[in-house]
Amino acid sequence: TSPLPPRHFLSIADVTPSELTTLVRNAQSYKNSIKSGSIPRHLLGSLTGKTIAMIFNKRSTRTRVSTEGAVVTMGGHPMFLGKDDIQLNVNESLHDTAVVLSSMVSCVVARVGPHSDITGLAESSTVPIINALSDDYHPLQTIADILTLHETFHSSPTPGRSPTPGLGLKGLKLAWIGDANNVLFDLAIGARKLGIDLSVASPKGHEIPKPMLEVIGQAGDSVEDAGRLFETRVPEEALKDADVILTDTWVSMGQEAEMTQRLRAFEGFQVTSELAERGGAKKDWKFMHCLPRHQEEVSDEVFYSPRSVVFQEAENRLWAAIGKLNTMSRSESQTRADNIL
Ligand code: CP
Ligand code: NVA
Repeated sequence: TSPLPPRHFLSIADVTPSELTTLVRNAQSYKNSIKSGSIPRHLLGSLTGKTIAMIFNKRSTRTRVSTEGAVVTMGGHPMFLGKDDIQLNVNESLHDTAVVLSSMVSCVVARVGPHSDITGLAESSTVPIINALSDDYHPLQTIADILTLHETFHSSPTPGRSPTPGLGLKGLKLAWIGDANNVLFDLAIGARKLGIDLSVASPKGHEIPKPMLEVIGQAGDSVEDAGRLFETRVPEEALKDADVILTDTWVSMGQEAEMTQRLRAFEGFQVTSELAERGGAKKDWKFMHCLPRHQEEVSDEVFYSPRSVVFQEAENRLWAAIGKLNTMSRSESQTRADNIL
């Protein structure tokens, strides 16, 4: 019999709501136990003798450090392959690179430009490919973001009582003010799956593209009480009753040549307390940002305020990476039996 095809993780669309919930819960449980000084037995050494290739065609702080740290925690070897280190894109095709790498390593984590680079690797790889950011999606960021929401909004269970199933985020209202980009698209898919409402305000010409709207819409198919998506060009309209305000850079990696035009297009979209108040956000609204951050999209007064959970969100990238990579170290049948993924 031929081996099962590898299970890739190219976007949050690749997991069911219950798998997403499990990934977030596992990330939280690893965070709690490791921070209190004990590494769960099944995690320790679960990647011993395994190499995880990390193809990074673009810069990274959080994704690189969290992935390398996660692999080391689990006893494996993270092999960083920057854009000038390997033959890919210069001398060798995606297909040939994927075939060769997957004959030597257990998993490939890849940060690329066009999303077709990730799907191209996945088509030819015999080991799982994990998307570490493409122009369309950033699924590891979404796991960390949902963990951060869970920690912020889901009160701890009463001692002695078992925790409620799910993440307790249904009905939460997120407001995204800024560019409709990779980080937003996976967050929107995750929100649909978990019953979280999301309002998006982006200027004309920078809205969610139609095909992506369809993908986000489909993420709610067969989900009971799927989260709703609302779009506007007016920041204030997205902010009404928001529990959380989020944004990202206005100039993503690869868009540097459009900087002047983009800064002009996004005028009036900077997240400030004044804007939040004008739009009618909830009194205790929180602020999130995947980082790296620039002052144009959010004022210092918000970014460094007690409302801001951005550094907790960044730390959660490590726990999300451990939670996700642990699924790679287990066989398909084991993980299905354990419902770990
Ligand atoms: N949020 C995020 O992915 O950051 P890096 O680009 O530093 O990895
Ligand atoms: N939207 C940003 C995210 C960086 C983590 C970019 O693509 O550059």
